[in-house]
Order: sequence, then structure tokens, then C-alpha cells
Amino acid sequence: MRHLMSPMDFSVEELEKLMDLAGDIEANPAKYAHACEGKKLATLFYEPSTRTRLSHEAAMLNLGGNIMGFSSADSSSAAKGESVSDTIRTISCYADICAMRHPKEGAPMVACRHSSIPVINAGDGGHQHPTQTLTDLLTIRSLKGHLGNMNIGLCGDLKFGRTVHSLIHALVRYPGVEFTLISPEELRLPGYIRSDVLDKNDIPYQEVVRLEDALPKLDLLYMTRVQKERFFNEEDYVRMKDFYILDAKKMALAPKDMYVLHPLPRVNEISVEVDSDPRAAYFRQMQYGVYIRMALILTLLEIEVK
Ligand code: CP
Repeated sequence: MRHLMSPMDFSVEELEKLMDLAGDIEANPAKYAHACEGKKLATLFYEPSTRTRLSHEAAMLNLGGNIMGFSSADSSSAAKGESVSDTIRTISCYADICAMRHPKEGAPMVACRHSSIPVINAGDGGHQHPTQTLTDLLTIRSLKGHLGNMNIGLCGDLKFGRTVHSLIHALVRYPGVEFTLISPEELRLPGYIRSDVLDKNDIPYQEVVRLEDALPKLDLLYMTRVQKERFFNEEDYVRMKDFYILDAKKMALAPKDMYVLHPLPRVNEISVEVDSDPRAAYFRQMQYGVYIRMALILTLLEIEVK
């Protein structure tokens, strides 16, 4: 039985297969409409979510399966003190596959050790968000036609941003990738990712503070939100929250084919005036998230559709 804890759980070849399957699902939705009939997905969300929970649920419903779950720790027996390991033993009796989001790093890993059904990590603290990464890879491949040979700007909260951490792990396996890390000093990419992932794989990167300095050289810009929920004090959050605001004036500095991605939700970091720019791809990105999660559910349940 297979789980998804990190994007590294799939080889580059397996990722290609998964993205090809997502592409076929997009082109031929009717072919997959009954693939998961009789199967149940449980969504165990101990942290708020709109896209990740509902896109997993939409994915299972599109495949003809059923869904169950909870959307906050308060509405589950976690509020009474139940452990993650006991909860997953319970869910294993009720569902065929589950997606778990938890504020503590490693909680989905604990779950998969006690689970008899596939567990999908739907985001664990500031650690990883692998299904967002699958979404991002599919979006980039669909927009640019390839995943290597590009300068990718990662902007915002690179310290706590689990989407960025997962994306870096996944992209360093493609040739010709380089990163421009755009953040304030306090929100720099953690040292262990710079040394263990970027340096170890000889990936070129530069760190800059001003978005304007980076924009002209980028093939892709990945914006992120400064995450209020990860700060220990309100004062630091207030100081950082509007550090970057991408607007039409800044977009004028960027190449004509530089797409803008964002895992969403956004707060102020992308002005709404950018939404109508053809390079703004963050709403298309959400739609790709459903196709790739459909492909993931089929793969983890080992369901082949002829
Ligand atoms: N991208 C993402 O994880 O969004 P949600 O927090 O709404 O699930």
C-alpha cells in the first residue's frame, strides 16, 4: 500500500505518468466518471482549508465515489484528546483512502504508520504540501510545456511556506532549474533546505529582497502569502504582511511569458488588478488541482481505467 507524504515519494517517471493521467482525465472526464464507484474518501482536516479539502472531495465525487470527513479539529474527537494514531485506526474501518491536514509537522506520517488505507498528506505545519506541488507541477508543465530549464522566482514567506518547501524538493530533479528566492531577511528559506536540497544538488540560486530586481529575469513567479497562523507574535506578522504586493506596475517589469502562480488563498500580495493579466495563472492552477488529485486517488487505489 502506498501513501503520499512528500513529492519525493514519486520518481520523476511516476510524476510524468501521474500528469499524463491528469491530462487524460481533463480531456475525457466521462471515461473516469464511475472509476471509484463504491469507494470512500475521508478528509481529516485539523486546520482550515478551502481548496485542498474541497478539491480532494470534488476529485472523488468526479470519479463516482463518496466522501466523508471533518473540517476542523473541534468537530472531531481530537477535541476530546484522541490521538492521530487512534483516529486513523478508526477511519481505516470506514473509508478506502484519506487526506489529512494537520498543524503539526509529521502528523500525517504518524497516521500512515497506523493506517490500513492510503494516507495523503494534505499539508503538515510548515513542512510539506505534496498535493499542492503535484498541482503546481501539472500547471507549470501545461503552461510552459516542460518542467526544466527555467528561472523560478519564489516570493514571500519562504520560511514557513510549506508549498515552497515541497515545490523546491520536486523541481531540483529537473535539469536546468534555478531559483530566485525573494523574501525579507526574517522569512528566508530555512538553512536546511538551502544546504540539504539546493547546495547538495548543485542548484543555482540567488537570494534577493526586492521583487522589482528579480522580475525581469524570471520565467515563472510563485507568489506566497505571509502566513499569520505560523507567527508567534502579531507584531512580526503585521510588519511583514504587506512586504510584497504584486501589481500592474511591477508586472510591467516582467517578461511577456512569465506566468504568475500562487497556491492561494491570497491576502494582499497580488493586487486584484493583476487577475486580468493573461500571465496570471493562479485560478487555472486551482482547476489543475482537481485533475491531479483525481489521478492521485486512482493511482493510490490502484484503479486502472481502460
Ligand atoms: N492551497 C491551499 O492549500 O489552499 P487551502 O488552504 O484553501 O486548502
